[in-house]
Amino acid sequence: MGYSLPKLTKILVAGDISTGRFFLDNFKDSGFEIHFVESSMGAMQQLEDGIFQIVVADDRLSDMSGIQFLERCKTFAPDILRVLIVREGDMKVLIEAINRGGIFKILMDPLDTKEAMNALSDASLHYWTEKEHERLSNLIREQNTELVVRTINQDKEIHERTASLLNGLVAALDLRDSDTQWHSRRVSLYSRRIAKALGIKGDELSQIERGALLHDIGKIGIRDSILLKPGRLTKEEWEEMKRHPEMGYRILEGSDFLEHERIIVLHHQERYDGKGYPQGLKGKEIDIGARIFAIADTFDAMTSDRPYRKSLPFKIAREEIIRCSGTQFDPRIVEAFLSVPAHEWREIRERLEGRDLHQESQSAIKPPPITQTLITPQDNTKPRE
Ligand SMILES: [Fe+2]
Repeated sequence: MGYSLPKLTKILVAGDISTGRFFLDNFKDSGFEIHFVESSMGAMQQLEDGIFQIVVADDRLSDMSGIQFLERCKTFAPDILRVLIVREGDMKVLIEAINRGGIFKILMDPLDTKEAMNALSDASLHYWTEKEHERLSNLIREQNTELVVRTINQDKEIHERTASLLNGLVAALDLRDSDTQWHSRRVSLYSRRIAKALGIKGDELSQIERGALLHDIGKIGIRDSILLKPGRLTKEEWEEMKRHPEMGYRILEGSDFLEHERIIVLHHQERYDGKGYPQGLKGKEIDIGARIFAIADTFDAMTSDRPYRKSLPFKIAREEIIRCSGTQFDPRIVEAFLSVPAHEWREIRERLEGRDLHQESQSAIKPPPITQTLITPQDNTKPRE
């Protein structure tokens, strides 16, 4: 995009008759459009009525000094370039003009055609270059603003659509796999609380929360005859069930902003001692979100009612987690879990159940009743035969 300087520059000349004649005669074919007025009042009127790029003022105006007049011009045309004609040797005016600033050029009287032409050409080029610069800057600013707003809106929309889709998937999974009734939602909040206790902040907290919420999303790809089988799974069936972390990873692969979440999903059945699946990762090879999730998952499974047993007391669940520290769980994360007061876990559960009861009354998607025996987190670590 290059400069597009216009052909016509309008110049207003204010001064006596001889000054007027000088410009009108010498600049007739210059490409400038010269307008001449004798008084400052007439000049102000012209500035009010039309757009000029340059104003040239003789210091010998009848009603005020040229410097005063040029200062007033700013009110009518702030961008106009000002040229002052000073009588040769009039040092007082010269000094005042320099000191008061804002004057683009000073021409000496008697006027010299070449000098005047150079001054007006410079002023014209300067004016239009500034205008072009201003135009381009505004254009870039506007486009940038528009682009930023559009990007933010698009990102927001994609995130909202994906979040709503995933919530729908989790709800759909809850409907299929009745054993998980609200388990995913509790585990996601428990994981967030443990992550906070570990000092994790900001986006990572939300990623861990979402990753935990979506941990079993891959079970959507598991056939009903296996997922809902009341009895023990055969070895083959169990092998298929063990594919759910990878299936979940693949489901989330299309969403760039769920990069960390899908790693949590992929690693959520791994164990700290390397005896988990699908990759048998060990220690810190397992994503921290998945290591946190493992504790939240077991804790929730033990403290929730199951078709085959009532929920276990908090103390028992706590002891079991301590017992599995260093084998099933990362000891550092067990410490973080233990640092959270018992009443906080209860509050999270109650708050969630309260909210869900409210949602349940408004939503078509209701949690299914617990009717079948399925897999508990601990069951998941070995085949049921
Ligand atoms: Fe799982």
